Amino acid sequence: MCGIVGYVGKSEAMPIVLEALSRLEYRGYDSAGVAINNGRGIQVSRRVGKLKVLAEALRRKPLKGATGIGHTRWATHGEPTEFNAHPHSDCSGKLVLVHNGIIENYAELKERLINAGHRFRSKTDTEVVAHLVEEYAKRHPIEQAFRLALKDLRGSYALCLLSQDAPGKIFGARNGSPLLIGLGKGESLFGSDATAIMERTRKVLYLNDLEVVELTQQGAKVTTLSGKAVTRKPTTVNWNIASARKGGYPHYMLKEIHEQPDAVRQTIVGRLTADPLRLVFDKRTARFLKTLDPRTRFVILGCGTAYHAGLVGEYMLEEFAKLPVVVDLASEFRYRGPMLDKHTTVLAITQSGETADTLAGIRMAKAQGAKVLAICNVMGSSIAREADAVLYTHAGPEIAVASTKAYTCQVTTLALLTLFLAKARRGISPAQWRKLAEGLLQLPETLEKTLQQEAHIKTIAAKYMRVRDFYYLGRRYNYPSALEGALKLKEICPLIHAEGYAAGEMKHGPISLIRRGWPVMFVATDSPVYEKVLSNLEEVRARKGSCIVVASEGDQQARRHADHLITVPKTDEFLSPIVAAIPLQLFAYYMADANGCDIDQPPNLAKSVTVE
Ligand code: M6R
Repeated sequence: MCGIVGYVGKSEAMPIVLEALSRLEYRGYDSAGVAINNGRGIQVSRRVGKLKVLAEALRRKPLKGATGIGHTRWATHGEPTEFNAHPHSDCSGKLVLVHNGIIENYAELKERLINAGHRFRSKTDTEVVAHLVEEYAKRHPIEQAFRLALKDLRGSYALCLLSQDAPGKIFGARNGSPLLIGLGKGESLFGSDATAIMERTRKVLYLNDLEVVELTQQGAKVTTLSGKAVTRKPTTVNWNIASARKGGYPHYMLKEIHEQPDAVRQTIVGRLTADPLRLVFDKRTARFLKTLDPRTRFVILGCGTAYHAGLVGEYMLEEFAKLPVVVDLASEFRYRGPMLDKHTTVLAITQSGETADTLAGIRMAKAQGAKVLAICNVMGSSIAREADAVLYTHAGPEIAVASTKAYTCQVTTLALLTLFLAKARRGISPAQWRKLAEGLLQLPETLEKTLQQEAHIKTIAAKYMRVRDFYYLGRRYNYPSALEGALKLKEICPLIHAEGYAAGEMKHGPISLIRRGWPVMFVATDSPVYEKVLSNLEEVRARKGSCIVVASEGDQQARRHADHLITVPKTDEFLSPIVAAIPLQLFAYYMADANGCDIDQPPNLAKSVTVE
């Protein structure tokens, strides 16, 4: 997730582009850059770090011109360095562009372009687009070259392109990543969302996927990829800036819950493809995994939500990759005197890549000769840099303290890792592999469908809002779901005490508290232990507890047993924790909202725990 902007008009573009970028910094902030076309040439300025670093550089050396583009980056391909920062240029520097999204087939395009004599300066997927347009522009006018290049791209993009030879124009296009147009008086803008353009105009033209735009100060010419004219009326945006930044949602947490289908899609894209059904990782990670000692054991480390993702990973890797796995809280691991050696693979899971305990854990592991693989959301973070290999989650920046999309992307990445190792270690049959991989490819749509339960979940939360204790129960893959559901609720609704347990543990103690009306959230989706979960449910009902049940669609038995039923689409059990996370997040959110809690910044908590 990155932020992109464009401006064409009568005023100086640089301050307007910078102002628009400042509104988009929540979308990425590891580096930033602008490019200004003044008709004689395109000047580019890029800096690593937050936007203020770039702003300071531009204050000392301003760029002049009335057409400009800008970018604030959340690295996906290539570390956050100046070379990898956007905008990116072709060989001549006459074509300059910014991009948000992931170009899935960039490696093959890059090879083709290098063979055709192009010189690359960055490690990004984006730079291929500039060279690709340059290649087509040798034989076609720029508009057509841009269109032809787009046709070669697989993956997601929102793009803004400057051509030195078209000073009053910006070319734009989108597919799978957001891009809209602002229509002002004698000026036009591009933005990743409405916040970027709202200072200048409230008149917005939303773009659909596979639409191409030629933007001038007079307005926008929108066409389909095949060149058919598109006519669409602009809409007027009435939001204030703060709510626009949250995409119209009242809280970042709710916005991030809704971003999950897309975040999971971005995490899968470029790794697992449907046709042919194939799973590839970046070279470094693939090499790391292929050279693992066949007798290696995995030690998964994480804190809080990341630890819960690790618990799901334990089930996945043991069942399908046939690997011995233990999961440890990073804060315990480092003081436990664990037995590690070169046959151990430590898998560190972290959104921020900066959590002090996890970082100390991997340092200790490396010192004892273990290999370290990380699942991380922040490129260039300490853990990403110190690990031997990294599988990035592509969740984009997570702003709410409560982790939602980072969690589902971590579990998605664990599913990808499991499929990779299951194949390499011949842990499952090809038919079973295919079935799991197809389920994973379907996951974004499955999550979209799951989100349709929102209004129903809100109604249930309204019924329980005054309750002050909660149990969450699940088994096998959804035992971690129970822990995560309870953590979400107590984290953002600190008035409520919530505990998650493995449902089979009930009889060993927690059941003593169950009495009339005591609420228990069950995760009872399809699984080999489904009947056992229902037995646990009966035990709660026998003591007059109140059961909210998350079950698979069409489950009549759960309907009969539940006080309140939330259904989710059927999936293989392997993926069910990702699907079940959504109703649990929404329930916590609406409980907190009904209780007037500070949802995005709950008391006593910080987004990144960089101290012990
Ligand atoms: O950045 P990390 O994933 O390493 O953070 C770990 C935990 O601090 C984090 O998951 C925390 O538990 C979340 N706030 C939970 O929602």
